[in-house]
Amino acid sequence: MTFTIPWLEWANLMIRWLHLAAGIAWIGTSFYFIWLDLSLRSRNGLAQGALGESWSVHGGGFYHVQKYTVAPQEMPAELHWFKYEAYFTWLSGFSLLVVIYYFGATSYLIDPARADLTPTAAIAASLGFLIGSWLIYEALCRSPIGRSTLALAVSVFLLILVSAFMLTQIFSDRAAFLHVGALIGTIMSANVFVVIIPNQKKVVADLVAGRTPDPALGAQAKQRSLHNNYLTLPVLLLMVSAHYPMLFSGGIQWGWLVIAFIVVAGGVIRHFFNTHHAGGRGKALAWQWPVAVLLAIGLIIFIASRGPALSDAKISDSRALEIITTHCAGCHAAEPKNPAFTAPPGGIVLDSLNAVRRHSERVMAQSVTSQAMPPGNASGMTDSERAELGQWLRLQR
Ligand code: HEC
Repeated sequence: MTFTIPWLEWANLMIRWLHLAAGIAWIGTSFYFIWLDLSLRSRNGLAQGALGESWSVHGGGFYHVQKYTVAPQEMPAELHWFKYEAYFTWLSGFSLLVVIYYFGATSYLIDPARADLTPTAAIAASLGFLIGSWLIYEALCRSPIGRSTLALAVSVFLLILVSAFMLTQIFSDRAAFLHVGALIGTIMSANVFVVIIPNQKKVVADLVAGRTPDPALGAQAKQRSLHNNYLTLPVLLLMVSAHYPMLFSGGIQWGWLVIAFIVVAGGVIRHFFNTHHAGGRGKALAWQWPVAVLLAIGLIIFIASRGPALSDAKISDSRALEIITTHCAGCHAAEPKNPAFTAPPGGIVLDSLNAVRRHSERVMAQSVTSQAMPPGNASGMTDSERAELGQWLRLQR
């Protein structure tokens, strides 16, 4: 008996499983501690050094937490740290990047129509972006700009946009969006690894030795935590962007603008929760969701305006089938003719017009609103063919 094992596919699945689990654990603890921090209330009679307390009920019991701004009078025998969630999220995420985008550089990372890079050059560029943007971020935080929360936030936002602009010039759209997510994720993990945890260690060591810790250490860690907090939601969307290629309709000119929408909308929604946790009510909570919804509507309209203009001109069934047969059926068949596939990719078979109708939303998103399919536009599907397919699909609804 002979059989082949698609090792990379398995590695992709297993590492993704780990990455999701670690990411959920990290974001879960981070959301929890942000909530906890903002829910603390002070009262008379708290222990010395305690800033506030918070009560909650979960899973059949009551929890009573107190926060000590510096440390309790005496170090507890057992102290829980939260750091492996962040480290494993980054390590698994980077491994996934290697499996998908480095091993599959020619399919996923490189778009010869943008930049005809060799795989080695493309991988070097990818690593350069991840390391370079983190170094710039660190320099910004440590520079005089870092003293102003607003100036720093604006600078970090610009750093993200400039990176997005440059990445869309050299990589495929899918890889560019993923890399913006990866470089923000790298900054967030590095904040934990390089600043937050080491600073906490220094504080603990000072306390154990009976020294007064430098309050700047705590302030610095808090600033980085704040960045991580606001960047969480944008990163999540960027990480799943590959499945929604209509996000790439801005193409090489406007991809950075789509990313700007995502970063601002995600940050604004996070702000709603932060304000709510801190006890803000009424007017303080009134603007965030409307602004985020308006941003989303703006994004949806913008993306629609980037796709081909569809008219109501009738496209015959035979013409639609011809387009699908020419550009899709080689891969999306029960038994693909394309030797790279042993099964229809994504489980999508496009061998008849009924099959196309069944998947009409996705076909529209992949081949009309965006140019994600066929991959790398290997068969040279033209804009007018995309418009014809879109017109046909529209009249099927
Ligand atoms: C060279 C092979 C190839 C060709 C040609 C091709 N596809 Fe695909 N298609 C793929 C692969 C590979 C995937 C899985 C992509 C992934 O893993 O994200 C896919 C996925 C899809 C999906 C599912 C995406 C999702 O995640 O929902 C749709 C829909 C699709 N293709 C439509 C099309 C259409 C329409 C055409 C023709 C215009 C086409 N494809 C041409 C290889 C191909």
